[in-house]
Amino acid sequence: MARLLITGGAGFIGSHTCVVLLDAGHDLTVLDDFSNSAPVALQRVAELAGVQLRSGSGSGRLQLIEGDIRDDGALNQLFATASAKGEPLSGVIHFAGLKAVGESVQDPLRYWDVNVNGTRALLAAMESHGCHTLVFSSSATLYGSPNQVPIPESAPVQPINPYGHTKAAVERMLHDLSAAAPDHWRIACLRYFNPVGAHPSGRIGEAPNGIPNNLFPYLCQVAVQRRPELSVFGGDWPTPDGTCIRDYIHVMDLADGHRAALETLVSEPPQVLTLNLGSGQGASVLEVIHAFEEASGRTIPFTISERRPGDAAVTVADPTAAWQRLSWRTQRSLAEICRDGWIWQQGNPEGYDLDAEAA
Ligand code: NAD
Ligand code: WQD
Repeated sequence: MARLLITGGAGFIGSHTCVVLLDAGHDLTVLDDFSNSAPVALQRVAELAGVQLRSGSGSGRLQLIEGDIRDDGALNQLFATASAKGEPLSGVIHFAGLKAVGESVQDPLRYWDVNVNGTRALLAAMESHGCHTLVFSSSATLYGSPNQVPIPESAPVQPINPYGHTKAAVERMLHDLSAAAPDHWRIACLRYFNPVGAHPSGRIGEAPNGIPNNLFPYLCQVAVQRRPELSVFGGDWPTPDGTCIRDYIHVMDLADGHRAALETLVSEPPQVLTLNLGSGQGASVLEVIHAFEEASGRTIPFTISERRPGDAAVTVADPTAAWQRLSWRTQRSLAEICRDGWIWQQGNPEGYDLDAEAA
């Protein structure tokens, strides 16, 4: 089986995808600067997949290289070393990037640098080493406030924050690259909706630094009493219960979607695939709270507060194209999302235990 480069593989979605890809027989090299993660996540990935984690220049089924996607020299060396060892990198799954919407408003240059310039550096290294297969982490955020729901891929790209603009810019760059060499590039832009939940073992999951920005990790932290209560951002939205509706996708379904996208890319002629990865089912904030209470047996204290600027009332994917092109669709319910998220949070109330596992 081919060796794949997984940028940002220690992060939330990357770590779960690594487990799925290792189980599917792929050998992996993870490149991560640990700016929003820690090596312990990869130690647990290795444990779940039954493989050894090797750092630095070592080889093996799961190899870790600490580095920055903006570092052209390190990228070139990584591709060259893999080829010299007779294990050329045949494809890249590119998760590395910054993802906090509010932070992107405060520090747009950093977002453009990491997300756009970092991807440019990665693509240049891929091109010069003859690696032309890429799965890119795009986002439903580039639909902004959608005019139609469920949202098809043909909906206008109209981001409303710098983070969304960086994702749109990378998609544009990928189309331009493919147009310049259409016989070479096999690219999937996967537009994720709201990834949540955890591996059912509870060994890996989402471990945000500081106060979580997103509903699900915040809810999990309220459930283990790390935070006193949840603020529900607005109770007067034009939805049946007055709270916003989102398309929550289990992170293991999302991980399976990456494997399916990769397999489709390598089995078909070169192309750019642009696909929503979502369930097609909407859940309101109150529905998520109640499903979590059901799964955990805990009461979640909450108050309804002001609307959050920039929120849309309803975003739900039209997932038809992913089903047609990848034969992939979500398998896991909101109840399973809450069950697995709760197993993770209970077992890891403070996130990964960095001190205990650093040794
Ligand atoms: P994450 O922060 O958990 O993972 C990103 C990983 O990239 C981290 O391990 C981080 O240390 C690493 N990283 C960041 N900058 C880097 C750099 N310059 N060089 C090398 N590594 C770097 O985030 P995630 O939730 O796993 O998201 C993965 C990708 O999916 C991101 O590109 C994100 O924009 C995108 N995405 C996420 C969501 C979501 O809600 N989680 C939704 C849509 C799209
Ligand atoms: C979900 C709902 C909030 C927190 C974000 C990014 C998007 C993508 C996925 C990366 C909304 C409400 C939230 C809280 C609340 N990420 N909420 N109380 O905004 O749909 O999408 O993550 O690409 O770009 O914007 O997700 O989890 O922040 O919010 O009531 O404490 O929960 O108002 O209705 P969102 P979210």
